Amino acid sequence: MANTKLTIRRPDDWHVHLRDGAMLQAVAPYTARQFARAIVMPNLSPPVTSIDAARAYRERIVAATGPGFTPLMVAYLTDWIDGAMLAEGHAAGVFTAAKLYPAHATTGSAHGVTDVAHIRAALEAMQRAGMPLLVHGEVTDPDVDVFDREAVFIGRTLAALVRDFPGLKVVFEHITTEEAAQFVAAQGNNVAATITPQHLHINRNAMLVGGIRPHAYCLPVAKREKHRLALRKAATSGSAKFFLGTDTAPHRVETKESACGCAGIFNAPFALESYVTVFDQEGALDRFEAFASENGPRFYGLPLNEGTITLERNAVQVPERYAHADISLVPFHAGETLDWCFVG
Ligand code: NCD
Ligand code: ZN
Repeated sequence: MANTKLTIRRPDDWHVHLRDGAMLQAVAPYTARQFARAIVMPNLSPPVTSIDAARAYRERIVAATGPGFTPLMVAYLTDWIDGAMLAEGHAAGVFTAAKLYPAHATTGSAHGVTDVAHIRAALEAMQRAGMPLLVHGEVTDPDVDVFDREAVFIGRTLAALVRDFPGLKVVFEHITTEEAAQFVAAQGNNVAATITPQHLHINRNAMLVGGIRPHAYCLPVAKREKHRLALRKAATSGSAKFFLGTDTAPHRVETKESACGCAGIFNAPFALESYVTVFDQEGALDRFEAFASENGPRFYGLPLNEGTITLERNAVQVPERYAHADISLVPFHAGETLDWCFVG
């Protein structure tokens, strides 16, 4: 069979949740096994809002993964964040980027931004510093249907933000809709997007057909099939605006399988296998390296990694569960067979 092996430059993950404490110890090695670097989300409790907190968190991550993996730290934007502090942290090599969570949009966003008007000075400082803004793009208005929250965010918030800060690098994180893919494609080179494996594989039926399936629930929530198809097209288009960001977001099994289950899919253990399966299905294996290993660092202005990894077209069985001491995690694709395996 053609293309049974694919060797690419070592990739990076431009959106991960590594958590802290025992959960960090449990999950960080999965990301470090496949990726050279990762953009680490700051939605801890309390969130990472200072240079010292980011430095300390970075040390805890490195202690959990060992050498060979570089965590790239992110500042959590609040209504009161100081632009000078962000620029200082960026210049010091601590903050790679800053994250805009609309207040109450998702897990750990209670301290997020209530109105972009409050962070204009911070955004100006970031624009001057060349520091990327990472956006969780959903409105939080209770009158907006949860399946419409991303598309509505573009018109209500993101379009004006991009217009008002034309030199700001903006990553529209984990896009889930055709509207988001089209919006990003239509902007200048300072606007890009990450795409998760789950949004390339599943639509909203995966959550709701034949029973309610909490392990397919994340935010932004998976949408209709036409959106999944649009995301597959964007990811495999060859456009440098789209790159890999898993949004791996582990939660203990008992908090997922609950009357009020947490949002988040733990996809780190088989992230590359999951993505490459999509590129293979779309006949776009030749575009996988750019998506996984080139577009992200070029957008962020960081060097490409040295070294390579190899994937092989060979069936691999995903475990039903991972257990680390008292932490039990259900991975994305649990119990399924994927067509590709990670050789290393
Ligand atoms: C994330 C989490 O659990 O921290 N959950 C998710 O569903 N993606 C938060 C986020 O990125 O929205
Ligand atoms: Zn996330």
